[in-house]
Amino acid sequence: MSVKINTLEIENVKRIKAVQFEPTKNGLTVIGGRNRQGKTSVLDSIAWALGGEKYRPSQPKREGSFAEPHLKLTLDNGIVVERGGKNGSLKVTDSTGKKGGQQLLNSFVEQFALDLPRFMNQSAKDKAATLLRIIGVGDKLGELERTEKELYDRRTAIGRIADQKEKYAKEMPVYAGVPAEPVSAGELIKQQQEILARNGENQRKRDQREDYAQQLELAKSAYEQAKMRFEAAENNFKLANLEAQDLEDESTAELERNIAEIDELNAKIRANLDREHAEIDAEDYRSQYSHLTEQIADARQAKTDLLKGADLPLEGLSVEEGELLYKGCKWDGMSGAEQLVVATSIVRRLNPDCGFVLLDKLEQMDAETLADFGKWLEEQGLQAIATRVSTGGECSIIIEDGTSFVPEPQTKTGFNWNGGKF
Ligand SMILES: Nc1ncnc2c1ncn2[C@@H]1O[C@H](COP(=O)(O)OP(=O)(O)O)[C@@H](O)[C@H]1O
Ligand SMILES: [Mg+2]
Repeated sequence: MSVKINTLEIENVKRIKAVQFEPTKNGLTVIGGRNRQGKTSVLDSIAWALGGEKYRPSQPKREGSFAEPHLKLTLDNGIVVERGGKNGSLKVTDSTGKKGGQQLLNSFVEQFALDLPRFMNQSAKDKAATLLRIIGVGDKLGELERTEKELYDRRTAIGRIADQKEKYAKEMPVYAGVPAEPVSAGELIKQQQEILARNGENQRKRDQREDYAQQLELAKSAYEQAKMRFEAAENNFKLANLEAQDLEDESTAELERNIAEIDELNAKIRANLDREHAEIDAEDYRSQYSHLTEQIADARQAKTDLLKGADLPLEGLSVEEGELLYKGCKWDGMSGAEQLVVATSIVRRLNPDCGFVLLDKLEQMDAETLADFGKWLEEQGLQAIATRVSTGGECSIIIEDGTSFVPEPQTKTGFNWNGGKF
């Protein structure tokens, strides 16, 4: 059950002489009055009564008062809160007459409800963190955002390398009309060596013919003495001559040319292969980049899904990059009224047992916005006690010189911006 304030009485606190009223249970209660009449002192008194020592005003007692300050609040859960006397001591009594203390009040009083500006003045990140905490996705969203950032940074680095690699590959030379694989000189050399071997054999045969010719000469000169040798030599010569006469040498010139060209050719082939590798390398980085792009999209989608699935305190709230958004606007892009609605909804969710919120300085809302805000509060079943420099028809109570009175009924219905009493 969310607790609301039924009645309040304040005497001699700060600017207040004597104030008493019954705030509307659901919706907006506007405390009106001119400047420095004691409006904010009313809210300060409520905060002190319910929030405890840390809300104690530096000078609680009204200057010029003989009596000590006194506060009395009755709450709709039956609890009566009184504070007063020289030391501002607290007295809490529940509906059965049992005594309680600050701890009992703390269980249903939300600190931000007593001091909404403290929430509103938080950094953008802190406000978002509060929202994520209450909808229970704080850690998970942070984790997704960290993942996304990490992927994004990695993709940026990879993209930069891919660009460099592509540029590098483009600058490398490329040759047309050369084989895909380097050519081996071994085969050509082997062919050359075979020919050379055959030619060597030929040479050997020629040399042999020369030998026998010499022997023939010798044999000729010694013909008479060695007819047998002569005949043999002649025979041999004839044979050798026969063998040698049709021999023809092959040319190695073509192979020599090929061998000479092979280095040049291979340099080109290697250049082509290098370029091909560089292109594959660049493509690889490009595909890593695309993959990271997909992962980033997934991380973003997961974030959206996470918030979509969450039970938000107000429709239109979201968090992006750790910042609170309402209808797509950041805090400083929201109107004053929107800021109040956002802050009130979040603070309400912080402690659903706290059924009220205090709002100082509602001047930022025009009559229409104020009426809409009041309607929204009613729909939320939330009690708001607000101050406003005005004595118009929107005021439920007017504070004048530290004293409250109920304004005369307005002739017009609804809020009457200029229709004040003064
Ligand atoms: N303990 C006090 N006794 C008397 N006057 C006080 C005390 N504390 C503050 N004031 C005076 O109250 C006035 C402000 O009251 P406040 O409730 O803020 O008025 P409002 O919100 O209507 O402008 C100031 O003039 C300030 O000097
Ligand atoms: Mg004020």
